[in-house]
Amino acid sequence: MGISKPLPTISCILFLVLYFSLYCITPTSSSASIQDQFINCVKRNTHVSFPLETTLFAPAKNVSMFSQVLESTAQNLQFLAKSMPKPGFIFRPIHESQVQASIICSKKLGIHFRVRSGGHDFEALSYVSRIEKPFILIDLSKLRQVDVDIKTNSAWVQPGATLGELYYRIAEKSKVHGFPAGLCTSVGIGGYMTGGGYGSLMRKYGLAGDNVLDVKMVDANGKLLDRTAMGEDLFWALRGGGGASFGIVLAWKIKLVPVPKTLTIFTVTKTLKQDARLKIISKWQQIASKLVDELHIRLLLGAVGNNGNKTITMSYLGQFLGEKGTLMKVMEKDFPELGLTQKDCTEMSWIESTLFHGGFPTGSPIEVLLQRKSPLGKDYFKATSDFVKEPIPVLGLKGIFKRLIEGKIELLNWTPYGGMMSKISESAIPFPHRNGTLFKILYYANWLENDKTSMSRKIKWIKEIYSYMAPYVSSNPRQAYVNYRDLDFGQNENNSKVNFIEAKIWGAKYFKDNFNRLVKIKTKVDPDNFFRHEQSIPPMP
Ligand SMILES: Cc1cc2nc3c(=O)[nH]c(=O)nc-3n(C[C@H](O)[C@H](O)[C@H](O)COP(=O)(O)OP(=O)(O)OC[C@H]3O[C@@H](n4cnc5c(N)ncnc54)[C@H](O)[C@@H]3O)c2cc1C
Ligand SMILES: *[C@@H]1O[C@H](CO)[C@@H](O)[C@H](O)[C@H]1NC(C)=O
Ligand SMILES: *[C@@H]1O[C@H](CO)[C@@H](O)[C@H](O)[C@H]1NC(C)=O
Ligand SMILES: *[C@@H]1O[C@H](CO)[C@@H](O)[C@H](O)[C@H]1NC(C)=O
Ligand SMILES: *[C@@H]1O[C@H](CO)[C@@H](O)[C@H](O)[C@H]1NC(C)=O
Repeated sequence: MGISKPLPTISCILFLVLYFSLYCITPTSSSASIQDQFINCVKRNTHVSFPLETTLFAPAKNVSMFSQVLESTAQNLQFLAKSMPKPGFIFRPIHESQVQASIICSKKLGIHFRVRSGGHDFEALSYVSRIEKPFILIDLSKLRQVDVDIKTNSAWVQPGATLGELYYRIAEKSKVHGFPAGLCTSVGIGGYMTGGGYGSLMRKYGLAGDNVLDVKMVDANGKLLDRTAMGEDLFWALRGGGGASFGIVLAWKIKLVPVPKTLTIFTVTKTLKQDARLKIISKWQQIASKLVDELHIRLLLGAVGNNGNKTITMSYLGQFLGEKGTLMKVMEKDFPELGLTQKDCTEMSWIESTLFHGGFPTGSPIEVLLQRKSPLGKDYFKATSDFVKEPIPVLGLKGIFKRLIEGKIELLNWTPYGGMMSKISESAIPFPHRNGTLFKILYYANWLENDKTSMSRKIKWIKEIYSYMAPYVSSNPRQAYVNYRDLDFGQNENNSKVNFIEAKIWGAKYFKDNFNRLVKIKTKVDPDNFFRHEQSIPPMP
C-alpha cells in the first residue's frame, strides 16, 4: 500500500519540472536568459553560421576565457580593475551580417551595447559603461580584412584591422603607396578613423579622415548604408565626429597616397643642459609648423635619471619624405639650431618608418606589424590634450620642466601642424583643429600597477598641469582632440539624461562649431539616441 499512489504524483512533478525547464529555454519565453535570446535572435538574422565556442564569451560559461577576451585589446589597464563595470557577455562576430544582426537584436531586446575595434580608447568607452547597467560588448577584432587595390589607389579596411596590419597589406602590394595614419601600430582602424586620425604624414596629406572615399555602416534601424545611401551629411559626421554616435562602421574605403621609395628618419635628443637657453625648443615652436610639408618633426618631452638627479630630455623625432642629402640642406637652412648630422639620419622605406614610429627595435622584421601588439605594451594611464597657437614662452616652458622633474607627469608629445593641415577648412570634416595651430600637446601620466593612490595622485596632477597650461594654449574654446577622449570635460549622465549644457562644452572643445552640425545629423539619423555613451553626440533636446 501507498507504493503505487505516490508514483503518479512524482511523475507529475517530474513532468512539470521537465515541462517548465523546457519551456524556459525556448527562445520565445520571457524567462529565457537575455544572452540566449540575443544569440537566438542573431542566428535568425544572419546567413553565416557561427560556433559559440569562439564567438560568445560569458562569465558563467568560462570566466577565465571571458576575462582573457575582455582584456585582449584593452589598452588602458586602469579600466580592467575589479571595481569597473563589466559587460554581461561578449559577442565576437565573424561576419559583417552578424554585426548588423547584433544591432537589430539589441534594439529589439532593449540591450545596451558597447562596440570595440582596437580597444585603445583612453577612457575605455568601447568596453566599459558607467551609465548603463547591464551592457554587453560587441568585439569586432575578428573583422579585419584589408583589400588593397593599387590600380585604383584605394583599399577597403574592416574596423578590427590594426594600423600595423593596414600598413603591412599596403606595402605587400607596393613600395610607393602609403596611408597617412597613426604612429602606434596596435590602434584599431574602427575607432581611429572616427576621430579624424593623425600621424607622421599629416603635414603632407592631412588626416586619415581627410582621405576617405566611402564607408559601409549599420544604422540605428539595422540598415546597411554606404556613402550614396547615407548621404553626404552622415558621411561627413563619420569622418571625425567621434566613435559610436551614429552607427557601427563595417568598413572604410580609403585613398592611398604616394610615398617615396626612400625616406629619412632621425632622432636627436637634447638634455636641458644642452639647450640651457632654450634656443632649440623655442625655434622648434616657431618653425615646426612652417617647414616644407615633407618634413615632420615631433617633440617628446620627458625626464631621465633617478630621484634628486633628474634631467629633462627633449627628443626630436623627424621624418623627411626624401633622401638624407636633401634633408640636411633643408635643416641647415631652416633649423640649424638642432645641429642635425648625417650620422643621426637613417634612410629607409615607408613601411620601415612605420616600425620606427611604432617603437619597434631597429631591424625588426616587418611581420611584427601582423602581431597586432605594440612593443611599448599596455599601461595604467591618464592623458589629455591641448592645441597651441602661439609659442610657449620660456617662463611657461620652465613650469613644464619643473613638473616633469617632480614626476607629476611622464611625457608630453608635441605634434606639429601646418602644411596640408592648414589648407583644409575647419568644416571639411568634423575635426576643426586646422590653420593657425602650431602644434598639439598630448599630456601623458602613467603608473606602474593597479594602485589607487598613485592613480588619484597622477590624475590630480594632470588636472593641475592642465590648469597651469591655460594661458599658453587655445581658448574660447580650449580645444581638445576627440580621439584623446577625456571624461573630465564632462559626460552624458545616462540615456534619458543628456546634460546638453555640459555636452556643448566638451562638444566645442572637440569640434568647435561643427558640434552643432553633428547634433543636427544625430537628431536626424538617431533621434532616440540608440547609439550612446558617456560622450556620444546627443540628439537635440
Ligand atoms: C598607445 C596609443 C597610441 C595612439 N596613437 C595615436 C596616433 O598616432 N594617432 C591618432 O590619431 N590617435 C592615436 N591614438 C588614439 C586613438 O586613435 C583612439 O584611441 C582611437 O579611438 C582608438 O581606436 P580603437 O579602435 O583602437 O579603439 P576602441 O577603444 O575600440 O574604440 C574607440 C571608440 O570608437 C568606437 N568604435 C570602435 N569601433 C567602431 C566602429 N567600427 N564603428 C563605430 N564606432 C566604433 C568605440 O565604441 C569607442 O567609442 C592612440 C591611442 C593610444 C592608446
Ligand atoms: C576555460 O578557458 C580556458 C582558457 O582561458 C581554457 O584553458 C579552459 O580549458 C576552459 N575551461 C573550460 C571548462 O572550458
Ligand atoms: C647625476 O647624473 C649624472 C649623469 O646622468 C652623473 O654624472 C652624476 O654623478 C649624478 N649625480 C648624482 C648626485 O647622482
Ligand atoms: C592661415 O591663416 C593665416 C592667418 O592666420 C593666413 O594668413 C593664411 O592665408 C591662412 N592659410 C590658409 C591656407 O588659409
Ligand atoms: C538615469 O536617469 C533615470 C531617470 O532620470 C534615473 O531614474 C536613473 O537613476 C539614472 N541612472 C543613473 C545611473 O544615473
